[in-house]
Amino acid sequence: MAKVKSTTIFFCASCGNESSKWLGRCSGCGEWNTYKEAPAALPSKRKNSGGGRIVPREQRQAQSFRQIKPDAEKRVASGITELDRALGGGMVPGSLVLIGGAPGIGKSTLLLQLSARLVERGKSCLYVTGEESIAQIKLRGERLGLSPDKLFLLASGSLQEILAEAERLTPALIIVDSIQTMRDEGTESAPGNAGQMRECTAVFSELARSTRTAVFIIGHVTKEGAIAGPKVIEHMVDTVLYFEGEGEHQYRLLRAVKNRYGPTNEIGVFEMTSQGLAEVDSPSAIFLGEGERQTGTAAAAVIEGTRPLLVEVQALAAPASYNYPQRVCTGYEYNRFVLLTAIAEKRLGLKLRYQDLFLNLVGGLRVSETGLDLAAVMAIYSAVKDLAPPAGMALAGEVGLSGEIRSVARPEERVREASRMGFKQLALSAKNVAKLKGAKLGGIKLVALKDLGEAVRLFGS
Ligand code: TYD
Ligand code: MG
Repeated sequence: MAKVKSTTIFFCASCGNESSKWLGRCSGCGEWNTYKEAPAALPSKRKNSGGGRIVPREQRQAQSFRQIKPDAEKRVASGITELDRALGGGMVPGSLVLIGGAPGIGKSTLLLQLSARLVERGKSCLYVTGEESIAQIKLRGERLGLSPDKLFLLASGSLQEILAEAERLTPALIIVDSIQTMRDEGTESAPGNAGQMRECTAVFSELARSTRTAVFIIGHVTKEGAIAGPKVIEHMVDTVLYFEGEGEHQYRLLRAVKNRYGPTNEIGVFEMTSQGLAEVDSPSAIFLGEGERQTGTAAAAVIEGTRPLLVEVQALAAPASYNYPQRVCTGYEYNRFVLLTAIAEKRLGLKLRYQDLFLNLVGGLRVSETGLDLAAVMAIYSAVKDLAPPAGMALAGEVGLSGEIRSVARPEERVREASRMGFKQLALSAKNVAKLKGAKLGGIKLVALKDLGEAVRLFGS
């Protein structure tokens, strides 16, 4: 007997995991109570829903390796340097980019500015919105001082309507705001649920590839609720950028978490102003904070993506209020922070057993490389001993389990950035310093360190 397929599925609104049964706790992301019921997508109906017809016939046939012409994979500069940087050096025609972020963070603003820039360069753009009316977008554009004439706005959530307009206008860039408001008429589920989002993304991906159009889709990050978050479609797109920002900060970080065409962890830095998003030329200035360096701080020279940055690491130690001391860390991997506190305890003899410890990076930056280790340990040491850090010194080094300082990648770039930001000394592993012998350093002094013992001697203790 033929198996009858169930017509509803359950999916996790947080990560998009699917299951035929309701689950209290998602087996994918571990979140509780995030499962929602949704009608299953009916793929049989999709065949004539527009998805298949956009790819020219010759592209569907296999071609011999030798005959394939190397794609003139020319990147197109978007005109927004920080965005180009996050994309890995500009937009790639035929690629599908997802921009995720919390509602209100500035996704629509950024992409409206992007389309205006491209139009200024003679390209045509189609901005599709399922969220706002076109009058609202025009109003926003005018507030931003934009009046592009080859920018076409379409208020629609229908995939079929969008495909028809894309065919008519043949734009160089299509913006879909947002994927959670799009629906494929052939799929019987509500916009915003996992199945519908995947169907639409698959069609946009095909559209991008077959017409060599760059397609940007916006996805709102949702914690709870009936609509799924952008995680559901991350695996289907070429590039995933997340737009992040701290509550009261005006600064926004655009971070590449996946990129088929460039490095990940690349970040672009923006500031939200009354004239929209402005690019920040010298992000180190934001991440270094203001004023004199206090006890419990250290400056780290890190590399995020391909960009050298200086960031102030702040640590606070306070007598533990409970038997179990608290460890709180923002901006750095929690487990790494706990490991560093254990190393500091063992190798430097710090008594942390009865201390609550907090670690924070200034300006809402998140660092994913271990070159921050040394500065984190120094900030903790400085906080616990109440000793001010050496003046004008930045640090870069990974800390090993026996307290040894290990080398970091691309030390010259860190030296250059530290020097540019006015630092007088940079502490690195002895190996890094030996390698830099003879290099032009712009007047900054290098301090070679073998282990944490040598590092704390810099405090004069
Ligand atoms: P928006 O791009 O609509 O966010 P998203 O699409 O990610 O939901 O940005 C909304 C916020 O940005 C809103 O709180 C107002 C603010 N904003 C400015 O501060 N200046 C501006 O020039 C614009 C257009 C928006
Ligand atoms: Mg928006």
